[in-house]
Amino acid sequence: MARFDPIASLRPHIRSLPPYEVLADAVSIAAEHGVPADQVLQLDGNENPYGPSPKALEALRGKYAAERYADATQGRLRAALSAHLGVPAECIVGGAGSDELIDLIFRMWVAPGDRVVTCGPTFGMYAFDAGLHEAEFVDVPRLDDWSVDGPALLEVARDAKVVFLATPNNPTGNSLQAELVEPLLDSGALIVMDEAYIEFAETESLAARAVSEPALIVLRTFSKWAGLAGLRIGYGVAAAETIDVVMRAKQPYNTGAASEAAAIASLNDVEELDRRAAILRAECERMVAALRQQEWLEPYPSETNFVLVRAAGHQGADVNEALRRRGIFIRTYGNEQLRDCIRISMGTPEQNDRVIAALAEIGNELSAGELGAASG
Ligand SMILES: Cc1ncc(COP(=O)(O)O)c(C=O)c1O
Repeated sequence: MARFDPIASLRPHIRSLPPYEVLADAVSIAAEHGVPADQVLQLDGNENPYGPSPKALEALRGKYAAERYADATQGRLRAALSAHLGVPAECIVGGAGSDELIDLIFRMWVAPGDRVVTCGPTFGMYAFDAGLHEAEFVDVPRLDDWSVDGPALLEVARDAKVVFLATPNNPTGNSLQAELVEPLLDSGALIVMDEAYIEFAETESLAARAVSEPALIVLRTFSKWAGLAGLRIGYGVAAAETIDVVMRAKQPYNTGAASEAAAIASLNDVEELDRRAAILRAECERMVAALRQQEWLEPYPSETNFVLVRAAGHQGADVNEALRRRGIFIRTYGNEQLRDCIRISMGTPEQNDRVIAALAEIGNELSAGELGAASG
């Protein structure tokens, strides 16, 4: 009897799954360029350069039971989030990052062939999960100013199971037009508002609205504002009946003890985290203004802790390579719409100065023809 062949036996859609574009191993790539680890600047993941808050760090130093499974009902986390958001605890669920909750939404509501809609360019996880779950994935392209094409979106949303919208959006940095919320909720689809960057923006969160709106799920995270990306902790807000079934469908111990302890401590350190977020926002404005001075760069307005920048006439990949030689890691894109763009996550003011100076140098190299990237 022939032995089991795990590759030949794969479900066909898994075999052909395009890989998710993950963050580079910055330290080893920088080492290839002769850049020591302590000179590496990782500004490619929209993470928080200030890291966890002081109270979260203190909690991580032992205020949790690593030898025990965390509470499957997430009682303390949900109570702390309830107080923070002003929504009932039974309307909240924690996840191992909002990524896990995106996957859970697919597992719960999307059958093979169901239509899932988003507006690109946007966060890659929606398309990745659509492939994983055999959904019909429809991307309604954003307009030139990155606003959502309302009429086109509402048209395809009518036959959709789920619409995922990041607001503010990654990588474009802008929020969803407020006037689209009501018609979207009336479309018949489940509307998932991904508010991963909402703490940086002026835009009001829809979390409170989700409590009484069965067609809406709001996703939030501790990865960005709270600097806990490596701990994988996020949450969803929805109507109590929805959260009840989500609690039953999720992996019982999906949020780790250390992650929960750090998340709860972060909610007791809001003032400090908001102060840091304000610095990152101010830095983003400063970066936009500084890059506008460099004639080869066109930064887009941003409401977040990162900025998308067009390097018209140049490949983002070439700019990326020139930055990597200097130990600076940013994000680039393979798709046509963003081929000449780079996305820079905000660092500390000193780190951002390094980026601005490096881009000025690269601009000079480009105009001297040294980079060989000036293709149309
Ligand atoms: C729009 C958006 N949603 C969700 C996430 C994932 O967040 P988490 O770390 O909570 O999984 C990201 C991460 O970059 C993001 O940009």
